Amino acid sequence: MRKNDIGVIGLAVMGSNLATNIANHGYFVSVFNRTAQKTKDFLKNHPNKNIIPYFSINDFVNSLSSPRCIILMVQSGIATDNTIQSIIPHLHSNDIIVDGGNSFYQDTIQRHQNLLKKKINFIGMGISGGEYGALTGPAIMPGGDKKIYDIISPIFTSIAAKYNDESCINYIGPDGSGHYVKMVHNGIEYADMQIIAETYTILKNILFLSNQEISEIFNTWNQGELKSYLLDITKNILLKKEGKYDLIDLILDEACSKGTGIWTCQDALNLHESLTMITSSVFSRFLSSLKSQRMLASKILSSPKIIPVLCNQVEFIEQLRQALYLSKIISYAQGFSQLSIASKKYNWNLKFYNIAKIFRSGCIIQADILNHIVKVYKYDNNIINLLLSPYFQSIANSYHISLRSVISYTIQQGISIPTFSSAISYYDGYRTAQSSANLIQAQRDYFGSHTYKRCDKSGIYHTNWLQ
Ligand code: ATR
Repeated sequence: MRKNDIGVIGLAVMGSNLATNIANHGYFVSVFNRTAQKTKDFLKNHPNKNIIPYFSINDFVNSLSSPRCIILMVQSGIATDNTIQSIIPHLHSNDIIVDGGNSFYQDTIQRHQNLLKKKINFIGMGISGGEYGALTGPAIMPGGDKKIYDIISPIFTSIAAKYNDESCINYIGPDGSGHYVKMVHNGIEYADMQIIAETYTILKNILFLSNQEISEIFNTWNQGELKSYLLDITKNILLKKEGKYDLIDLILDEACSKGTGIWTCQDALNLHESLTMITSSVFSRFLSSLKSQRMLASKILSSPKIIPVLCNQVEFIEQLRQALYLSKIISYAQGFSQLSIASKKYNWNLKFYNIAKIFRSGCIIQADILNHIVKVYKYDNNIINLLLSPYFQSIANSYHISLRSVISYTIQQGISIPTFSSAISYYDGYRTAQSSANLIQAQRDYFGSHTYKRCDKSGIYHTNWLQ
């Protein structure tokens, strides 16, 4: 009897689209879902001769050719653990479990170790692109044992997004590294979305432009260096009508999240990384959810008087475009810096050239800026900060004035732009040779005898400040 090439467990949106994508590439796919009705509905709505449903784990596992490769597309956390436990008794040594969900990388490291003891192989695979990407070609970030990845790579290489005929998949590194890179990708996505949202608020509340006019500006910007998937979809969102209304004006201004942004920030704190833009974007979502408090405060706490724009509108819009691009650069610089520190801490030996190449298509942060990042890392995997590379430093040196004027003007209007503000603060902090941290050290030594180092001589010092 014929055995199938690969199995997919979990037939929610991502899982069913990924199974269809694999089947559309000529592979025979066994599918299973905890709730049988979902499997029946999936096949009724998307019949595909290459997809074969199973209603018991035993039949599902036994339908696969050896070594069996099973992709989990279930909720992260306990659901993933439960699913792994349910299939283990049916597996042979050397079978391969691939976790394609949004698992926390530390969980992936733990699962990898636990399964190794049972001689079952495990690949933690970040998959980005949302439901459309899963169906038509996602960006894929596999982490685990390279030899195991090589066994399964033909299937995943064929279904991944393509950029100039190159598949957006590359081996990332050992154990949890694939999910780590996916996590930081999601963090960068948070900041990208937030700075576009702040740009929209400036165009709306300072220049009083209509959604259609803002969409046209985004469309123009999307032809140049700011070209990105997120700007592209935003220009479409702003044109969407519901009856006589623009749908965007009917959507409640409370942003939700599923947690990967929070994980990225928590890890930045653990690594002592200044991931200010992503962190600020996460905080902005939290603040947005306090709708009733914001409504109350808007009536109690005063705002400044609106003052007219200091330059002409065309000039201001160009400044804003430059502000958005430089902020985006700073955010990517922070994200890649975090990847670099994590790579050292966990001995992952990440290749940033390969990672930036993966991000160029299929995923939510795909953008032209990634071509420049690819070029930087092609020649130097160890560059300490993207801002120091020739291309990005030249953009920073010519655009920082625009970022400053947009931010200072917007703040004077009483409009909240936390992520733009954190971009310029990071930029100025990073390029400051003499900071104010000498005073922090003196304060620490004063109240807690924490000691300090000196600029004029080596060694560790403590001063009796009260003498
Ligand atoms: P999406 O792809 O839409 O983001 P998800 O919420 O991440 O979906 O994953 C949902 C999948 O996880 C479903 O297949 C779900 O199974 P049911 O259809 O039976 O609900 C699966 N899932 C959720 N909790 C689970 C658990 N405790 N054990 C096994 N599978 C579980």
